[in-house]
Amino acid sequence: MTKKSVLQQARAAYQPKLPSVLWGPVKAVKGEPTQSVGDQEEIKKLFPNTYGLPELEFVKDTDASKKKTGKPAKFNVGVILSGGQAPGGHNVICGLFDGLKALNKENRLYGFLMGPGGLVDHKYKELTASFINDYRNTGGFDMIGSGRTKLETPEQFEKGLEIIKELDIRAIVIIGGDDSNTNAAVLAEYYKAKNVPVQVLGCPKTIDGDLKNEWIETSFGFDTATKVYSELIGNIERDANSAKKYWHFMKLMGRSASHIALECALKTQPNYCIVSEEVEAKNMTLNDIVADIAKVVAQRAADGNNFGSVLVPEGLIEFIPAMKKLIAQLNDMLAEHPEIKQMEPDAQHKFVVDHLTKENVEAFNSLPVDVQRQLSLDRDPHGNVQVSLIETEKLLSDMVEKKLEQMKENGEYVGKFSALHHFFGYEGRCADPSNFDADYCYALGYNAAQLVNCGATGYMSSIRNLAKPSIQWIAGGIPITMMFNMEQRNGKQKPVIRKALVDLNGRPFQVFAQHRAKWARETCYVYPGPVQYFGPDEVCNQTSKTLYYEQEGK
Ligand code: FBP
Repeated sequence: MTKKSVLQQARAAYQPKLPSVLWGPVKAVKGEPTQSVGDQEEIKKLFPNTYGLPELEFVKDTDASKKKTGKPAKFNVGVILSGGQAPGGHNVICGLFDGLKALNKENRLYGFLMGPGGLVDHKYKELTASFINDYRNTGGFDMIGSGRTKLETPEQFEKGLEIIKELDIRAIVIIGGDDSNTNAAVLAEYYKAKNVPVQVLGCPKTIDGDLKNEWIETSFGFDTATKVYSELIGNIERDANSAKKYWHFMKLMGRSASHIALECALKTQPNYCIVSEEVEAKNMTLNDIVADIAKVVAQRAADGNNFGSVLVPEGLIEFIPAMKKLIAQLNDMLAEHPEIKQMEPDAQHKFVVDHLTKENVEAFNSLPVDVQRQLSLDRDPHGNVQVSLIETEKLLSDMVEKKLEQMKENGEYVGKFSALHHFFGYEGRCADPSNFDADYCYALGYNAAQLVNCGATGYMSSIRNLAKPSIQWIAGGIPITMMFNMEQRNGKQKPVIRKALVDLNGRPFQVFAQHRAKWARETCYVYPGPVQYFGPDEVCNQTSKTLYYEQEGK
C-alpha cells in the first residue's frame, strides 16, 4: 500500500453502517417463484436449474441461540471485481470478509486477481484481516484489480472449477455490472447443471446506474461518481459565469443510459442537458439536437450571455435512431467479418460502405472520419461500442458553431461563440466512496456472506429501501434470471440482464423537464462542491437526487 493521505487515515476509522436486520443471526424467508422480465419461455429453457427461484428476504433469527446447531459450518469464498471501477468496491469485499468471519472465524476469503480472468488463470490471493484493513472505505479496485474477461465458455468454467476445488471454495461472489452479473447467472446454472456444489452470487456495481429495477434500487458507485462529476461541472459553471466568454461542452460517462447526465443536471442546473432516451423517443436526428442547442445559445446571446454549459451523455450516438440502425448493422458485420477491425482506414471504409444498406451508408457518411473509424473498431468483450472513445462533445460543438454561422447570416443570431470541451469519466470512478456508497457497499458484501450461508446460488445481493436511513434497509437476494431478457449480442440472440434506461415518465426526468426552459435561458447554476465525508447529515449523508425523486411518495 502506498503512503496514506491525511483524509485516507481519517477515513479508515469510519465504521460503515449496517441495516439493523444484519446485526445478528438471520434466516431467509422465501417469496413466490419468480419470472424473467422478458422472453420467459426461452430463458426458462436456457436456465432449467436456476429459473423461477423465489426472492429471499432476511429477517432476524430470534431463535438462533436456542437451536442446537453444533459448530457453525466453515467455508471458503472467492471474490472477483469485474468491469469498470466504481467507488465502494473495496467495501463490498470488507463487508463480505466481516460477514464471513462473523459466521465463523475460520472462514476464508480468496480474491481472484484482475477480474474474471484471475479465476480462469488461477491467479489469486488470500485476503487476510491485516491486508484488507488498509483498503476500508477507500476508492479504486486496486486491492485485487479488475478486468473485463467475459466468462462464457465451458473451458473457462472448467478451468475455474479446478482452482475452486483446490482451494475448497464453496461460493464465488462476482462484483460487477449487468454483463458481469449475466455471466454470474450463466456460471451458476453451469455448476448447478453439473451438480457441482459451488454457489455463484452477484453484487450490483456500476457508476452508470443502469443496473437497477424494483429490487436493485441503485448500483453502487453511482452516488459517489455523480457527486464528483457534479463538483467539477459546478466549478466549471462558476468559471463560465465569472469570465462570461465560453460555452463548455461536457461529456459524461455512463455508457448507454443517461442516468449520470440526468443526475448531474438535477444537481447543477446547466443550460442544456441531452438525455439520450428522449432523443430516441422523439426520433431526433443529430441536426435536431444541434438546432436545439444553437437556439439556446442564440437566446442567451440576445440577453448578453455568451456563455453556458451543455451536458452530453457518452452513449448519445447509439440513441439517435438513424445511428442506432447503423450501429446494429455494424455490430452484425463485425461479428461476421472480424477481419474488418484490422484493416487499414481506407480499406476499412470501403469495405464498410460496400456492405451497408443505402440508408445506413447515408448515416455513416454524415459522421466525421474519426467517429466512423471508432464505430468500425473492436467492441469490448461484451459486444459494446466503446463510447467513451467517441468525442461527441467536440462533434456537437463543431456542428453548433456551423449552425450559428448560418443563423448569423440569416439575422437570427448576434453574439460570440467560443467552445471548450471536457470529458468526465475516469475522474470519478475511483473516488473514495461517499458515506452512502461506503455503507451500501459494506451492506451488500455482508449480505452476500449471508446468501452464501443459506446456500443460495444464481442470486444477486439486494439491499433495498435505500432512501431511508441505513438502519431501515431491507436485505435479501434476488434471482438473477428474474432480470433477464433476450438481446442481440455479437450477431447472436443472448440471454442478458435488461439494462435500465432513463424512464421519461419517472420523477427524476419529469423534474428536470419542468425546469429546463428556465435553466436554459437564465443562469441558475448550483455549485455542489466536493464530496463531504464528515459533517452535518444534510451535507454528508444525502442520497442521489435520482434515488430521492424515485422513492419520494412511495
Ligand atoms: P461497467 O459497466 O463495467 O461498470 O463500466 C462502466 C464504464 O465506466 C462506462 O461508463 C464506460 O463507458 C466504460 O466503463 C469504460 O470502459 P473502460 O474502463 O474499459 O475504458
